[in-house]
Amino acid sequence: MTERVFDSLIVHAQVATIAGSAPHCGSAMREIGLLNDAAVGIIDGNIAFVGSSQDAAALETKECLDARGRLLTPGLVDPHTHLVHSGSRENELAQKLAGIPYLEILQQGGGILSTVHATRRASREELIEQALRSLRTMLLWGTTTVEAKSGYGLDVPTELLQLRVAQELRKLQPVEIISTFLGPHAIPPEYQDRPDAFLEQMIQLLPAIQTEQLADFADIFCEHGVFSVVQSERFLEAAQKAGFGLKIHADEVEPLGGAELAAKLGAVSADHLLAASENGLRSLVSAGVIPVLLPGTSWNLRAKPARARFLIDTLQAPVALATDYNPGSCPTESLQFIMALAANELRMTPEEILTAVTINSAHAIRQAHRVGSIEVGKQADLCLFNADNPAYLVYHFGINHIADVWKKGQHVVV
Ligand code: NIG
Ligand code: FE
Repeated sequence: MTERVFDSLIVHAQVATIAGSAPHCGSAMREIGLLNDAAVGIIDGNIAFVGSSQDAAALETKECLDARGRLLTPGLVDPHTHLVHSGSRENELAQKLAGIPYLEILQQGGGILSTVHATRRASREELIEQALRSLRTMLLWGTTTVEAKSGYGLDVPTELLQLRVAQELRKLQPVEIISTFLGPHAIPPEYQDRPDAFLEQMIQLLPAIQTEQLADFADIFCEHGVFSVVQSERFLEAAQKAGFGLKIHADEVEPLGGAELAAKLGAVSADHLLAASENGLRSLVSAGVIPVLLPGTSWNLRAKPARARFLIDTLQAPVALATDYNPGSCPTESLQFIMALAANELRMTPEEILTAVTINSAHAIRQAHRVGSIEVGKQADLCLFNADNPAYLVYHFGINHIADVWKKGQHVVV
């Protein structure tokens, strides 16, 4: 082992390895494999050593960083965002503060549809530029892998453009992007009276997206006044046949049965779940669907948060957390802010939260074989925090605790 020359070695860190290949369920979410005075070595972009700083002293390395007892975690994984879009919706703040519900703003042609108008008008360059700014923020705040949905085109050219922009963004900056086709995100104005015809158009688009390898997942907004459970099943079944992994915006506002549908179809994740029925939650956990909770959205919409404690304690679920970054229901790129909300709003412990933004969120986008934990052979995606314990990260909220970030072994935030 000593003949190998390491590219980088990080020593004297408190390492949260969050190791283990399966999703971390229930009480196991609190086992973060904390190693005191530990070292992590990197060769060719991958983790090649995890052990004590004492053992690492014998290793030869080109670079060495002394973490001085601070917390080293896997790079954060954000498994649910609406990254590529144009504009912002602060013009809706007054309506929101006046108590007009989210779905009513959408019904009046605002909300998602207002972003659809802006996105359809934007050029490819404008979409790239706005998303690059968000990705830069994400990286500076510790996110090294992100899922990105389409869904602000609601027509063939703009949906494809959003997905192609996401593909191009991979080459322009370090954050890894996993794409999801969310064509049925709302009913566009030109199809208001013919939602089934719109859905059919989105179904017809699936093979082209698959052939061009523009997305790994397909998703739908299953919600009262948007797409029903029957329509969602039709779309998701077609997507599954076409080879996509399934995701679903489920039971965000009304207990419509999205959670039950996710279980029935064996979705990879079911996201939101604020209003999901107890039976729905039970069946999705039994079916191995990852519940992705989005406490930024419930907080921002001033809705009752999802039942994280029930999921973790009673159902022994592998909960994951995400930002849901989008210009309407949750305009933040910061997973660290979501982590603070997960403590305060969802009553999750700091250890559960770390697990939910690393290995479990990696499972929610089927990337856990490469990212989400600090283990030999995995990609060297790492965050060093200006914190010496996990509780400090969520307790001292609203600021950026990142000291350094590595992506594929590259020291991208110094
Ligand atoms: O996950 N609920 C549907 N979609 C997004 C919000 C998108 C928007 O408001 O622009 C969500 O909350
Ligand atoms: Fe969303």
